[in-house]
Amino acid sequence: MVIMKILVVGKGGREHALAWKFAQSDKVDEVYVAPGNEGISLEKKCSVVDATTVEQILNFAKSKKIDLTFVGSEDYLANGIVDVFREENLAIIGPEKKSAHLESSKVFSKQFMRRNNVQTANFEVFDNANNAINFAKKTNYPVVVKADGLASGKGVFICDNFEQAFKAIEEMMVESRFSDAGKNIVIERFLNGFEASLFLLLDARNYKFFNFSKDHKKLLDGEKGPNTGGLGAITPHPSIDGRLMKKIDKKVILPTINGLEKEDIFYKGILYIGLLIENGEPYVLEYNVRLGDPEAQSILYLLKSDILELSENIVESNIMDSKIEWYDGYSLCLVLCSEGYPFSYMKGEKIHFEPRIDSKIFFSGVKKGGSDLVTNGGRVLSLVNRAATLEEARKAVYQDAERIHFNSKYYRKDI
Ligand SMILES: Nc1ncnc2c1ncn2[C@@H]1O[C@H](COP(=O)(O)OP(=O)(O)O)[C@@H](O)[C@H]1O
Ligand SMILES: [Mg+2]
Repeated sequence: MVIMKILVVGKGGREHALAWKFAQSDKVDEVYVAPGNEGISLEKKCSVVDATTVEQILNFAKSKKIDLTFVGSEDYLANGIVDVFREENLAIIGPEKKSAHLESSKVFSKQFMRRNNVQTANFEVFDNANNAINFAKKTNYPVVVKADGLASGKGVFICDNFEQAFKAIEEMMVESRFSDAGKNIVIERFLNGFEASLFLLLDARNYKFFNFSKDHKKLLDGEKGPNTGGLGAITPHPSIDGRLMKKIDKKVILPTINGLEKEDIFYKGILYIGLLIENGEPYVLEYNVRLGDPEAQSILYLLKSDILELSENIVESNIMDSKIEWYDGYSLCLVLCSEGYPFSYMKGEKIHFEPRIDSKIFFSGVKKGGSDLVTNGGRVLSLVNRAATLEEARKAVYQDAERIHFNSKYYRKDI
């Protein structure tokens, strides 16, 4: 049997989950994560690599003779890591720089949706602050003002009146708070409803539906407070029924796939479509060109199929040959973070684990401190469990959240 060496690119809980899932495969011998975090090196078959730039990662892949690289994090994709690996004939999962624009430019992605009849909120694009302000004077509120470029989830402002919109436009286009990412902006209609994350697997020729997941972006219970990277996720999404799925197929998935083909975007990898469902109608908020964090943790924990086989089929444009199987029921992911996140928080706190933890732990912001792990980031770790019912999965995860201790531990109580 061929024994494979895998490289995962990124450093968070999502990358730990990818590494763990690859390590489950009989055909996988070693999994490296670059740059990873020291919690991941506790995982069987897994080790972390001190490489952060695309060039360092490429050199590592060549010297170790890595068989397959899977990119978790968007920054590397926007920097063109996939193009660089392909030039060297190295197998890699992720979209090329050109397709990565679907995520790294909101102007490009909204115009792509408009050209290809993908249902999305009405919008205008501006490259000039005066025009944007004139528009903001006469539009109806609320509206959403978005920076064009990558802004780590901080470039989106929901504005209830002209004053708020004016401030958002000024910050982006005049004060350049997001540097080049805010040179162009999108102003779009505010949609009222619930969100869902949709994942597809694409092999540049065909696609397969992967799953739906429910993210929890806000800091406080009841989806209140500031935005975070995400503090919990549930797979599958509990509120998508057959009727809604039909609409999503017709108004979102098919026009997206047809649009990619028409525009010669040969997309290989995972496409994440952020949806907002308003009065039973699905609208696309954005495309992401990779798995979300923490959705990845809950999705991969529910996935029964071998991720190596799925990945090989994506690389070889054979995705239609893949059988995607899931465990029954639901999987739930809860993120434990440091009090103060997403602003300032303590680092270096010792983490104590009681014995008898049943949930799977995926590490994000941790490092070694002597023989212990200590906190080293806002999102510290995630706990994931699966069960026949959502209630059971929830109970198991929340029990384990009480069995892990560090001084400034905080987590949402309502995932
Ligand atoms: N048109 C909209 N109507 C209502 N809420 C929106 C709208 N656009 C964005 N949002 C909210 O803002 C969040 C972030 O917007 P998104 O387009 O996903 O940008 P990013 O993830 O790059 O910050 C969404 O998850 C959603 O909660
Ligand atoms: Mg988003």
